[in-house]
Amino acid sequence: MNSVDRLNAILQQYEGAPYPATPIDELTQPEPNTLYQQNIITPYYLHHRRVVNLKNKVILDVGCGSGLTSLVLALANPDARVIGVDVSPTSIAMAKARIAHLKNPQIEFQVLSVEELPQLGRQFDYINCDEVLYLLPNPIAGLQMMKAVLKPDGIIRANLHSAIQRQHFYRAQEMFALMGVFHQDAGEIETALVRETMSAMPSWVDLKAKTWTPDAQGQVSDQVIRMNYLLQGDKGYTIPDLFHMLESVGLRLIEMVNWQQWNLGLLFGKIEQMPAFIGLSLPSLPYCQRLHLFELIHPIHRLLDFWCTHADVKPAVPMPLHLNLPKIEKFDCVFIHPQLQTSTVRDAICNCAKHNRPFAIEPHLSILGAKTIVIDSGIAASLLPLWDAPQTVEAIAKRWQQVRPLNSCTLEPTSEAESLREVTDLLETLLPDLYVMVEKS
Ligand SMILES: C[S@@+](CC[C@H](N)C(=O)[O-])C[C@H]1O[C@@H](n2cnc3c(N)ncnc32)[C@H](O)[C@@H]1O
Repeated sequence: MNSVDRLNAILQQYEGAPYPATPIDELTQPEPNTLYQQNIITPYYLHHRRVVNLKNKVILDVGCGSGLTSLVLALANPDARVIGVDVSPTSIAMAKARIAHLKNPQIEFQVLSVEELPQLGRQFDYINCDEVLYLLPNPIAGLQMMKAVLKPDGIIRANLHSAIQRQHFYRAQEMFALMGVFHQDAGEIETALVRETMSAMPSWVDLKAKTWTPDAQGQVSDQVIRMNYLLQGDKGYTIPDLFHMLESVGLRLIEMVNWQQWNLGLLFGKIEQMPAFIGLSLPSLPYCQRLHLFELIHPIHRLLDFWCTHADVKPAVPMPLHLNLPKIEKFDCVFIHPQLQTSTVRDAICNCAKHNRPFAIEPHLSILGAKTIVIDSGIAASLLPLWDAPQTVEAIAKRWQQVRPLNSCTLEPTSEAESLREVTDLLETLLPDLYVMVEKS
């Protein structure tokens, strides 16, 4: 199939069934972790080491489909504007209908293909391209188009299907192509044929064991069948492919979107069990190789989901950025991540402090792969001014000294240095997952 035919096959697929199929009047309350990832403050901090102001920021959602991701982007970035574009007019009509009743002036939609992005005649602070790149006949050209409309300090979030994690679906697609079921006009009949075929297989059959995963009600939805067994244009990539693509268009990886889950160290059990040759060579391996080793050993991610930026904008620190976060100092300015800066979290801390119970972050923001953090509620309460405005480390330490004026064991007065050390320790625990962010004075 040539690239024009492929584009037509993709267009036909989404004209027939816009994605996602989520009803337009279904209220969306995304998981806090989704909002955390879609909040542009997260990658901006990793890359620029500053907490960006969302006022006047403009986000482009490329291949926005039926508009659900655009809506999530708007919820995650309340002060920013969101423009969603998609090549499929039916998908854009559904996206417009989805937000019509919300009367949200923050979001607008337009029929436009990736190839036509320069027609927008403007540059963007952040470009989201979720579940699109792996469908394009030429993803490098797609990245080039996005780069052309990206501001110099802007960030692109995009993803590719993993060739390794998804290998069994590619087998299934080939099998259904042989049966004449996988083709660009596939619709309800073909979906039913896939269901019938897969259901007929006993569960020990390898293809069924590796691909057929019914939900809690024992069902596999039509959308899941279309997006996996019948997905037109679907291609898989590896980490070296991703780095090659970025390099060839002059882009550079900032970080994997779910970087906490790409932790090679965890794959060898306890640190002391790690074979010496791995333990010694790991820290010096380039990040590309570390990520590639991870996908070879433990290919759990369907998506290679990444943030990237212009290659000529040098990062403030060496890669991987999440392992080189700043050391905390007395006059640094501390910010709480917006996903925690809610009245619910503030009330939960107050409630724990009142009943002298430890405060756990996880029920409020559960980041897959992140360390479980439980904090003494007294010291957590000394962070509360962060809900109103950023504070210096010193100011938080002073408050902690007021909260706990005496050492509980010796009954000696808590010294300034002691409270500063305890607050610094706490902030160093919270910084790696960006629950807090610090800016240098
Ligand atoms: C799997 S859907 C993803 C929708 C949305 N981004 C999400 O994650 O919910 C892929 C979308 O990409 C769009 N698309 C495919 N090729 C495109 C192109 N060349 N230009 C713009 N949109 C395209 C399709 O029309 C479809 O709506």
